[in-house]
Amino acid sequence: MEIVRVKDYEEMSKTACNYMLRKVKELESPVLGLATGSTPEGLYRHLVDEYKKGNVSFKHVQTFNLDEYTKLDPTDINSYHYFMNKHLFEHIDIPKDQIHLPNGNASDLEDECHNYENKISEAGKIDLQLLGIGINGHIGFNEPGTPFTSRTHIVTLVESTRKANSRFFPSIDDVPTHAITMGIETIMESKEILLLVFGEMKADTLNRLTNGEVSEDFPASILHKHPKVTIIADEAACSKLVIKS
Ligand code: F6R
Repeated sequence: MEIVRVKDYEEMSKTACNYMLRKVKELESPVLGLATGSTPEGLYRHLVDEYKKGNVSFKHVQTFNLDEYTKLDPTDINSYHYFMNKHLFEHIDIPKDQIHLPNGNASDLEDECHNYENKISEAGKIDLQLLGIGINGHIGFNEPGTPFTSRTHIVTLVESTRKANSRFFPSIDDVPTHAITMGIETIMESKEILLLVFGEMKADTLNRLTNGEVSEDFPASILHKHPKVTIIADEAACSKLVIKS
């Protein structure tokens, strides 16, 4: 795992944008794995800016998002479909049929998980998977205790995650109790992983990720076993990072 240290959120977002644009420009048909949440908002803003300046096209790109809540309509302002449209997709030239998110509103959710895995396989491997990280080390919605062998599946959201995400909802009672997420094994099959971490709130998390043991109690620790992971982290997130010699 390589850690790229940057000053602040803005520099993290810009650096991540350049990293992603390199892939988009270099590959004939790039497959990107995308995330939602506060972490990638700045990155998406920069991608949109670059598109508007005419510096990049996304016509040849396919995307697969990590996760989606269940029982929310894609038009619901709290759904990840809505988030992705608002922050990225409606501003760029990516064809709609090349955008993929799990359908949390499907009548058969188990079936939807299989379909999503199949769609990823059909696209070939994800070339670059973008990740954020939860304070408890979750990636996607893979909470502590999720088997490292998991594929796309339905999860029951733990209370701490519902609480953290309640900032986007009128109240915690409105936060869905379940979600569909890419599994840890699915994420690990990506050719390359780009993890963004910012803010003091994630300082202990980043230190544990860097120095802790690989354990299902801390899902992101599996990234130590991936051959190509780049972490872009700001000063605040690095403030508790112990560098072992
Ligand atoms: C979102 C996702 C989550 C977030 C994580 C951090 O698609 O998969 O794992 O990346 O919860 O969220 P933020 O960025 O809001 O701190």
